[in-house]
Amino acid sequence: MKLLLLGYMGSGKTAVGERLAEVLDIPFYDLDLEIEKGGQKSVPEIFSEKGEIYFRKREVEVLQELLKSDERFVLSLGGGTPCYGNVMQIINKRAGVTSIFLKASVETLTHRLFPAKQHRPLIAHLQTEEELNDFIRKHLFERNFYYHQAALTVHADTTVREIISEIVARLF
Ligand code: S3P
Repeated sequence: MKLLLLGYMGSGKTAVGERLAEVLDIPFYDLDLEIEKGGQKSVPEIFSEKGEIYFRKREVEVLQELLKSDERFVLSLGGGTPCYGNVMQIINKRAGVTSIFLKASVETLTHRLFPAKQHRPLIAHLQTEEELNDFIRKHLFERNFYYHQAALTVHADTTVREIISEIVARLF
C-alpha cells in the first residue's frame, strides 16, 4: 500500500501525511524534501537557480523512484506535481497506489498561505491577502482538473484529526 496525498499548497498534505503515517505505522515521505535531499538545495533555491522546468522534471523523476520501491508509505506530493506531464496517469495505473486529494476552499487556503508565502516561490511575490486570494482562485481552477483525477477526494477545511478519520473510514 502506498498512499499519495495531493492538493494545493496549504491544503495540509504534510501535516496530514505525517500523522496518517504515524497512525498506520508506516514511513512518511514528502516529495519536496526528497528533492531537496537529492540536490542539496532548498525548493526556492532550485526555482531561482535552475528554474521551474528543471524542478518539474525532478518531481517526476523522484516520484518514479519512490514508486518503484516495494515499501509501504505515505507520500505528500508538491502542490504542482500532479499537474505536469502524465503524473496522474503514472499514479493511477500503478497497482497498490491510492491517490487522495485534500480539497480545501480558496478562503481556507488564502488564510493558511498568507503568513507562510515567503517560502513558496510561486506566491512569494503577492503583496496582499486579496491578491493571493485572486491568484489561488485562478490557479485552482486550472489545477482542479488534475486533482480531481485522484481516487479519493477528502474535504480539508477541517482539522488534521478529522481529515485522518475521514481517510481511514473511507480506505479501510
Ligand atoms: C508548488 C508547491 C510546493 C513546492 C513548490 C511548487 C506548486 O509544495 O513543490 O513550491 O506548484 O504548487 P507544497 O504544496 O508542499 O507547498
